[in-house]
Amino acid sequence: MTVHIGAKPGDIADTVLMPGDPYRAKWAAETFLEGAELVNEVRGMLGFTGTWRGNRVTIQGSGMGMPSLSIYANELMTEYGAQTLIRIGSCGGMQSHVGIRDVIIAMTASTITSPSSGIFRELNYAPCADWGLLRAAVQAAEKLEAKTHVGGIYSSDVFYAERPDLDEQMVRHGILGVEMEAAELYTLAARHKRRALAVLTVSDHLQTGEALPSEDREKSFGDMVEIALEAAFA
Ligand code: ADE
Repeated sequence: MTVHIGAKPGDIADTVLMPGDPYRAKWAAETFLEGAELVNEVRGMLGFTGTWRGNRVTIQGSGMGMPSLSIYANELMTEYGAQTLIRIGSCGGMQSHVGIRDVIIAMTASTITSPSSGIFRELNYAPCADWGLLRAAVQAAEKLEAKTHVGGIYSSDVFYAERPDLDEQMVRHGILGVEMEAAELYTLAARHKRRALAVLTVSDHLQTGEALPSEDREKSFGDMVEIALEAAFA
């Protein structure tokens, strides 16, 4: 047990999928895993371990934002020995060619600040995905024929942005979408020599104001989970 995760040693698999929403962790575990068992419910941040095609997988909620993800990812890496961590979550589309329901596989994650900014200070560190996972995810997305974009995303600290100029600069520089966790996951994975990736579903669009109706979410999110699982065990 750690400060924030109640799982026993050995309850957490080497491969961990991390949705922000603990109820999405439950849904993904019930939908995709065999023999899924609840391994964590501290603070309601649900985690489940089961198997996918015979491979052990944990699906653990991360909460929203980099400070929350940092707690869970740190403990998963340093206390439970997680080796492969894949964020599965939603994001806001930032480019006109990126549509609602599309999948974004994040090659890099730009950020203005993160829990790790304190150690980088004047350095502009570039958080990036694990290349092997990224390549396998792209191949899995092609096999599924999911409409997919591969490129940079923006990990923001805020959902309700008061600085539209930041979003504008991201759009101007080709950033595909905005979410709130991947940059810190990539940074922690680099620090602890683990593999990390973020596979995201576009749930809303900053330019068009469109948003995914809740009844459509499961099917769209399903592609993302399948891509993440295929990539983890490619
Ligand atoms: N996650 C999903 N949509 C988002 C948005 N528009 N901004 C930040 N995070 C998000």
